[in-house]
Amino acid sequence: MTTLDESIQALENVDAFTAYLHQVGRSHTRVPGYKKEYFWRIQKPFLEAVSETLGDRYTENMETIYTVTIQFILETLVKGFEIGEKEKGV
Ligand code: HEM
Repeated sequence: MTTLDESIQALENVDAFTAYLHQVGRSHTRVPGYKKEYFWRIQKPFLEAVSETLGDRYTENMETIYTVTIQFILETLVKGFEIGEKEKGV
């Protein structure tokens, strides 16, 4: 959640944001048995947490915005993981 929070705060600086997420994704190649698909498991609980936090303010528009945001974050983490795999020659 801290990563996701920092990511959202860093959105104004897309390059730094992407580099940070690549780095975090890449670091997970050190976790034994980790599969890149695991990142996607956070999508639903993340959106549920946003919904719970925003309550009435969680409109359809908000849902769309947060869905696009979390998908971008997760895709970028996966990309970072793939970069890490390539470096290791997997
Ligand atoms: C969106 C999902 C996730 C995010 C944002 C995330 C973020 C992070 C961050 C920021 C760190 C510490 C800094 C780093 O090493 O880069 C970390 C470490 C770690 N994560 Fe994740 N993580 C996610 C999913 C997972 C999942 C699903 C697992 C396990 C199945 C996992 C296992 C670990 C482990 C074991 C470490 C410690 C690695 C080490 O210090 O050697 N992470 N994660």
